[in-house]
Amino acid sequence: MDEEERMRERTLVLLKPDAVKRELVGEIISRFERKGLKIVGMKLIKFDKELSQKHYQEHVNKPFYPDLEKFITSGPVVAMVLEGPDAVETVRHIVGATNGRKADPGSIRGMYSNSFSRNLVHASDSKEAAQREISLFFKPEELIDWERDDFFYYASDE
Ligand SMILES: Nc1ncnc2c1ncn2[C@@H]1O[C@H](COP(=O)(O)OP(=O)(O)OP(=O)(O)O)[C@@H](O)[C@H]1O
Ligand SMILES: [Mg+2]
Repeated sequence: MDEEERMRERTLVLLKPDAVKRELVGEIISRFERKGLKIVGMKLIKFDKELSQKHYQEHVNKPFYPDLEKFITSGPVVAMVLEGPDAVETVRHIVGATNGRKADPGSIRGMYSNSFSRNLVHASDSKEAAQREISLFFKPEELIDWERDDFFYYASDE
């Protein structure tokens, strides 16, 4: 893989219904922005059972799945695609361990979640998962390439 490709790796992030209902969306998105991850896709969605089963395909037969499905379908979810160097690994690191009580205190889950199942954020766990999950939530034309531009800090209408 060339360097250019590595710098532009993409991953899927979901801000789950607990993040939206606790009004932590802005706070969490800020963490990603400040880390230097670029938002290249974003929308507010509502999961139905079918989407939950597709997204959580590796968990569908697990005992905790019914609760997971009930939770993820319980309210709006913010779906985002983030781009940056080693985005999959970097985002997982910032999000922290699954259990909010065990997650590193500097991570998003460690800072804001006190729960194992209501842990605010989903992030793809491999490049293959990222590709599959991005295509589940976004059409290619919904992902937008853009460049940072210092001009907007200094531009004036006066
Ligand atoms: N044993 C369990 N009991 C209850 N809920 C669980 C259990 N294991 C996982 N979950 C829930 O299912 C979600 C998906 O589990 P997974 O193992 O993929 O964790 P994760 O990759 O850290 O989280 P996510 O996929 O949401 O980013 C977890 O976020 C958690 O809310
Ligand atoms: Mg997972």
